[in-house]
Amino acid sequence: MSIKTKLPKSAYGVYLLSLLLIPVFSLSAADLSGNWVVRDSLPDGTVRRSYFDLKQEGAHITGHIRTTQAFYIISESTGGPDTFTLVGTWPDGDNQRKATYQISLVGDELHVSTRRRPDAPLIEMVAHRTTPGEGALPTRLPLPALHKVPYNGLAKTPPMGWNSWNKFASRVDDAAVRSAADALVSTGMKDAGFIYVNIDDTWEADRDAQGNIQTNKKFPDMKALADYVHGKGLKLGIYSSPGPNTCAGYEGSFGHEEQDAKTYAAWGIDYLKYDWCGARNLYKDSEMQPLYQKMGDALQATGRAIVYSLCQYGRADVWKWGPDVGGNLWRTTGDIRDSYDSMEKIGFSQNDLAPYAAPGHWNDPDMLEVGNGGMSTVEYQTHMTLWSILAAPLLAGNDLQNMSPEILAILTNREVIAIDQDRAGKQGARAIKSGDTEVWTRDLINGGRAVAIFNRGTSEAVASFHWSDVGFRNKIPAKARNVWLHQDVAVSGVDYSTTVPGHGVVLLVFSARKM
Ligand code: GLA
Repeated sequence: MSIKTKLPKSAYGVYLLSLLLIPVFSLSAADLSGNWVVRDSLPDGTVRRSYFDLKQEGAHITGHIRTTQAFYIISESTGGPDTFTLVGTWPDGDNQRKATYQISLVGDELHVSTRRRPDAPLIEMVAHRTTPGEGALPTRLPLPALHKVPYNGLAKTPPMGWNSWNKFASRVDDAAVRSAADALVSTGMKDAGFIYVNIDDTWEADRDAQGNIQTNKKFPDMKALADYVHGKGLKLGIYSSPGPNTCAGYEGSFGHEEQDAKTYAAWGIDYLKYDWCGARNLYKDSEMQPLYQKMGDALQATGRAIVYSLCQYGRADVWKWGPDVGGNLWRTTGDIRDSYDSMEKIGFSQNDLAPYAAPGHWNDPDMLEVGNGGMSTVEYQTHMTLWSILAAPLLAGNDLQNMSPEILAILTNREVIAIDQDRAGKQGARAIKSGDTEVWTRDLINGGRAVAIFNRGTSEAVASFHWSDVGFRNKIPAKARNVWLHQDVAVSGVDYSTTVPGHGVVLLVFSARKM
């Protein structure tokens, strides 16, 4: 027996409405709309935050995601009702970047997973609801009118020293910096010219109530550290960003340029690396010059001699305006890695920039990786040679307390350093490219010349060329110096031939005579 219930007409309406409401109701139970924050407490006492500002309509999510560096606009959302895959697009200057996030609501938490690169390990995070607007980007401040910041008289030769980033990254602390300073002295690197001890990113804490930048737990007393470094006859460098945050997500100098420059001067800082990262979500690459000028002015206003290093990865033709903002050096490329491929790609791409280097103003193809373990001794010799031909800053990036005699010998080869530090300040350039062989030359003061014969292939090769092709007008001078072998070598005739190891170099220096 079946009972058929005849519903009144109005009840059908309610029934149909409820059918429509069921999916809406179940979705609204898992509504991810709102503002979410991931708070990542670091051992140094700082908190790194990522924000998810989401708007869910049915199975579609829009909004944006702000991480330590990036500001992604959600351009795709798939999945649902419980787990969504979001693709964020970040218009970072001319390089549009994308990131993929998986998100799901678990209780009142937003569980998030992502990868930095498709082959990188999965990063899992938990976000909590926060007040609307907490993750909003700060408002842009007006840009100053352009003017020429006077030259500060520093870095007459490319800066030399050590920087914490390549080896220590966020593990740098007061003790590591003191050890590096000690090692510069005890290894003889200081005597060879390595003077600057530069703290890179991750020293910063938030600001105090007056807006003064604070150091985090890793750096209990920056003034005392500066005194220690100065006591060794060395100089101390520091790092910041024109943006609200640095590349590693720490506090930047945005809106506090004068205040920070004064703080650095009061601590006794001698060098500032100023890194674009956090500014790129507020300003366009074409607006870099006034922002770098702001800090250039601020540093000069302190009256302290502070080398000014611009780090913006060689964008916006920085070599054309770097000197005008008071810059002593400017990065010309993205970050170096400790591999031959990375070093080679950067080093051999610098040819066109030679005209922009001069005493006080240097192209910076990034810091040295010599001694970090990813290249062979021969490859590190190539690295050091190429950087010296390029008149590049020589900032060692290895663990100075634990380096082999071979690595120390590479870093402190006085004859190679003399090429880098040549007071004429003329950056070298490529004279010959033939297959895997490249010959680069650099004119030295008083008519001397360095000739570097590189073999970019993997196996030993014989390189042969005419002296006239590397700028020698007449017959070649009789005597050259092979600076890696520390030997005088006799050269004669119109041609030259030498054996060069795979990924290696033969570096000759000719003195002034008979050119
Ligand atoms: C950028 C710079 C690096 C280093 C890191 C620190 O990637 O190019 O040299 O300073 O930031 O976060």
